[in-house]
Amino acid sequence: MSNTASQPRKILVTSALPYANGSIHLGHLLEYIQTDIWVRFQKSRGHECHYVCADDAHGTAIMLRAEMEGISSEALIERVSREHQADFARFGIAFDNYHSTHSPENRTHSEHIYRALRDAGHIATRDIEQMYDPVKGLFLADRFIKGICPTCKTDDQYGDNCEACGATYTPAELIDPVSAISGATPEVRSSTHYFFKLPDFADFLKRWVGAGHVQPQIRNKLMEWFESGFNEWDISRDAPYFGFEIPDAPGKYFYVWLDAPIGYLASFQNLCDREGIDFDAYWDKDSDAEVYHFIGKDIVYFHALFWPAMLEGAGLRTPTGINCHGFVTVNGAKMSKSRGTFIKAETYANHLNPEYLRYYFAAKLTSGVDDLDLNLDDFAARVNADLVGKVVNIASRCAGFIRKLGGGSLSTHCAEPDLIARFIDAGDAIAEDYEAREFGHAMRKIMELADEANTYIADKQPWVLAKENGREQEVIDICSVGINLFRQLMVYLAPVVPTMADDARAFLKLDSLDWHTRQDVLLDHDIAKFKPLMTRVERDKIDAVTEASKEDLAEEKKMKDTPKGPLAEDPIREQIDFEDFAKVDLRIARIAKADYVEGADKLLKLTLDLGSESRTVFAGIRSAYAPEALEGHLTVMVANLAPRKMRFGVSEGMVLAASNDQGIYLLEPHSGAEPGQRVT
Ligand code: MSP
Ligand code: ZN
Repeated sequence: MSNTASQPRKILVTSALPYANGSIHLGHLLEYIQTDIWVRFQKSRGHECHYVCADDAHGTAIMLRAEMEGISSEALIERVSREHQADFARFGIAFDNYHSTHSPENRTHSEHIYRALRDAGHIATRDIEQMYDPVKGLFLADRFIKGICPTCKTDDQYGDNCEACGATYTPAELIDPVSAISGATPEVRSSTHYFFKLPDFADFLKRWVGAGHVQPQIRNKLMEWFESGFNEWDISRDAPYFGFEIPDAPGKYFYVWLDAPIGYLASFQNLCDREGIDFDAYWDKDSDAEVYHFIGKDIVYFHALFWPAMLEGAGLRTPTGINCHGFVTVNGAKMSKSRGTFIKAETYANHLNPEYLRYYFAAKLTSGVDDLDLNLDDFAARVNADLVGKVVNIASRCAGFIRKLGGGSLSTHCAEPDLIARFIDAGDAIAEDYEAREFGHAMRKIMELADEANTYIADKQPWVLAKENGREQEVIDICSVGINLFRQLMVYLAPVVPTMADDARAFLKLDSLDWHTRQDVLLDHDIAKFKPLMTRVERDKIDAVTEASKEDLAEEKKMKDTPKGPLAEDPIREQIDFEDFAKVDLRIARIAKADYVEGADKLLKLTLDLGSESRTVFAGIRSAYAPEALEGHLTVMVANLAPRKMRFGVSEGMVLAASNDQGIYLLEPHSGAEPGQRVT
């Protein structure tokens, strides 16, 4: 009856802090589900494990979002935090604490760490030149500047790279740059910035990264980065900025990524203060506790370089492990708003059981950083076959006979001690998989056991015996074995499907399904009436999710198109003379051919017949029209628009269409109009 020979461990676990300006989606959920499973497993094993998270509440994006909604940054982060926590709760993510980076604890820890770094000589200051929006009175990050691509001359390109031709450049090289926030022409201005001297930690980081704190793939990537040297990290932003002012530096704020990871400490501090946990026992330099950060592969740089260096420089312990995962794709492609595969947590949970997703992610998760595909057909098939077809099936086949023939009580002796012993022993290998974050392996082992249990019951055919006189006890014995095997499986699955496990626990009339409880076999034990523990995934519910996700997109567009704050556009349009209008050469065109454009999910390639000539035009109408539906139709085009080089070819004009939230409507003349005819 041994528990585990080892002492309980002290473990602190975090997931990345989601930004406070957007909703939780299925991509995020991979991380929170992965972390939550690991934490539940550790708790089930009897370790002292704390799971903390918080909203990442600072930065320009959040400030501007609040402004667009016409509310204060504080009101925005307050609302989003409530939404995030509601989403997480629906998916069974059981944080021990959920806090905010905009909190007194985070200010204290950020100032403390900054002062420690500064006093040890790891902070430098110098003046840098940056684009500045004179209308908004704001320095502009690259992504807030738009202009014409210096390479291919495509208009309306953001910051530092061109979506049409892929060129990279500095915002200063953009032709006719404008601020994406106010439309003003930015000026170059100089200001003093504060830098964290990362090069001071070059040797430390090389050692740290080589010492097994990151996965092998990540270590290799980091080693490559190291070869190009270490740069100082700009940790300050000028006012106005939603964040914490830097001590002794009026008007200078900590860059959001400086105080974001410190938010892990802040959330844990908040938990410690509430529950009387010893904070220092986890964060002192000589702490024997373990600290793990679960993150996505896009934020490795911050967690595996800046963060350990900051902690080291401030005299704190560094993380035991950075556990990095890959990105979620849906049906083999990046989540796409127009295809309805950019699925918000809330939208999913309105139609489908969150535990389906927890199981599916678990079944596909490894300890590596490969991307994980949520294939919606495979998702339904897998959940139905495994959870419903294999696991629930064991209990549902056995429970009825125990009630009917055994009065609801399991047999007083065990008919298959070897079989049950094997199920108990299998727990050790499954535990190793959980510990190593090889959840896919663990699920495979559990399903193999479920297959064995089903085979046992199928071979014994209790339903046949039940019809024969005098064989009731045999039926009860067989079904009692079945229920015991089911109990083992639920112990192993509990970290993945906690709600189902809790219902199973109630059915089994047990106090706990913790890992060690599997050691005692249930004999002469009452069970409750069986209720279905999980129903099948229905295909139309999945379709409802993708449809609803397309609607979410329309809602979002509406929101963006009707800014309420000072960003609202001036509704009075500029007037033009007739001569100006006459410069636009509008022509009737016949759509001779329409094709999809590979790699462009908004565009169709149209071949337009103007009577005497033919033009190729790329039009952003793919979401509204299938190419076949357009061929042969007449429309109106701007025939003298200067040709535009795009990534997919040259566009020689433009077709006219109206649009609203519901769709896009191509203009079509009354019948009788001829291709090439001028429109006036
Ligand atoms: N605020 C930062 C993290 C600060 S941690 C001190 C951030 N936020 S985020 O909301 O953009 O992402 C939160 C986590 O979700 C990150 O670990 C990120 O990698 C992960 N994911 C976001 N989209 C994802 C997918 N499509 N797939 C898998 N993980 C994804 O980054
Ligand atoms: Zn370009």
